[in-house]
Amino acid sequence: MEPASNDRLLRLGILLSGRGSNFLAIAESIRSGRLRGVEIAVVISNVAEAGGLEAARGLGLPTEVFPSKGRKRAGHEAEVIACLRAHGVDMVCLAGYMRLLSPEFVAAFPNRILNIHPALLPAFPGLDVQQQALDYGVKVSGCTVHFVDDQTDHGAIVLQRTAPVLDSDDAHTLAERILAEEHLAYTEAIRRVVSGEYEIQGRRFVKRNP
Ligand code: GRF
Repeated sequence: MEPASNDRLLRLGILLSGRGSNFLAIAESIRSGRLRGVEIAVVISNVAEAGGLEAARGLGLPTEVFPSKGRKRAGHEAEVIACLRAHGVDMVCLAGYMRLLSPEFVAAFPNRILNIHPALLPAFPGLDVQQQALDYGVKVSGCTVHFVDDQTDHGAIVLQRTAPVLDSDDAHTLAERILAEEHLAYTEAIRRVVSGEYEIQGRRFVKRNP
């Protein structure tokens, strides 16, 4: 992927299934100029009622819905990939997209799909993440933005932010504290990825040698 430049904005495709607060944080970063060189090309959901879609429409962004319920994965993904291509998407940002991507999907956008996960990977992958963290008794959790590869919650880590786990926490209060960090993390992660200043070395996402 070419780094972002003033000549051509890199086009983000957002995939979401729910309320879309991470998407909105990204959109606000772009609007306010905190995140430069990118634009949101399309917001896609597999859930017609997703709050994030409504929010995207409110911002005047193109939205598309491809319901996944009852669909075979390959057919559904082919439609999503075609939509991303039709909108000229350079990089895909999963923002609460509750579908696993097949290796074929990942291969269609090599090292160009980001995900955000509400724990410090490799701790607590999968679902019910904050409850997993509470049950384990960790004192610090947080969030991880990572490249998507063929394994769930596994690809090279772009960045992580931490949040304390308090004695008084339940899954909801912990999730809220982590979410505030997510909103900062996704913008910074995109900024680093599109800057062209970093590269993936094995599992490590590091600054290039000058
Ligand atoms: C976030 O906690 C994110 O880490 C996880 O799903 C949640 C989505 O929240 N993958 P939102 O829809 O962005 O508000």
